[in-house]
Amino acid sequence: MNIVIVKDYQELSQKSAEIVEDQILVKPDSVLGLATGSTPIGMYAELTEKYKAGLLSFENVKTFNLDEYCGLPTDNPQSYHYFMNQNLFSQVNIHPENTYLPNGNALVMEQERKAYDIKIAEAGGIDLQILGIGVDGHIGFNEPSDEFSKGTNVVELDKSTIEANSRFFEDKSQVPRTAITMGIESIMNARKILLLISGANKKEIAHLALQGEITPRVPASILQNHPDVTVIVDEDAWQLPV
Ligand code: GLP
Repeated sequence: MNIVIVKDYQELSQKSAEIVEDQILVKPDSVLGLATGSTPIGMYAELTEKYKAGLLSFENVKTFNLDEYCGLPTDNPQSYHYFMNQNLFSQVNIHPENTYLPNGNALVMEQERKAYDIKIAEAGGIDLQILGIGVDGHIGFNEPSDEFSKGTNVVELDKSTIEANSRFFEDKSQVPRTAITMGIESIMNARKILLLISGANKKEIAHLALQGEITPRVPASILQNHPDVTVIVDEDAWQLPV
C-alpha cells in the first residue's frame, strides 16, 4: 500500500484528481470505478476543472459506480444516480450510455446484481477503482460481516451507516435500509485502487483498516492484500492525538 498523507481536503482532492487524470491520459478508454459520499466531491470538481480547461476528455471513458440505495427514484437528490449527474456526468463530456450504476429499483434484484457483474466483465474490468470509507470500515456498501462478500449484492445497512448518511436526508427515517453494492471481490478485481480518507471522524477506522488485522469485521482491511493500492489520507484523518 502506498499511503500518501496530505495536509488537507483540498490537497486530497487535487492529488486524487491528478491520479485519475494520469489514468485517462495513459488509457483514454479507461474503465473507472466511481464512489459517492462527501469525500470524492472535491476530486470530481477538480476533474471538471481539468475538463473545462481542455486538459482532459471523458469521450471514451466508461464508469461503473459502486452502489445505490434500494427504493429511491433516480431523480431523488439523495440517490447516487442524482449525485453522479450533479457532480460529474453533467459537467464533462462523458457519454451517458458509458455510465453505469446498479439499479436500486430493479424488479428482480437477483437478476440486477448478476447483470451488473457481467457488464463490468464485458467492459474489460475496472482499471482504476475510487473508494471512500465508512466510519465502520465499509467500502461501497459492504458492511462489517462474518465473511468478505463476492460479487454485486444487496445489503442491509448498519445502524452506524444509516446514522452517518442521515445528514444528507431530512430525517433518519428517510434513509433507505437496503442498498445494492459491488462486492468486495468485485472491488478487489480492479487493477488499481485509490482510497480517499478525510476528516477527524475517520481517524480510528483509517488506522484500523490500513494497519490492523485483515478481517471482514473491517471490510476495507482487505485492501492490504491488493497489489496496487494508493491511499490518500489527510492529516485530520491520520494524526493520532499525542
Ligand atoms: C456511503 C457510500 C460509500 C462512502 C461512504 C463514506 O456509505 N456508500 O461509498 O465511502 O458513504 O461517505 P463520506 O465520504 O461522506 O464519509
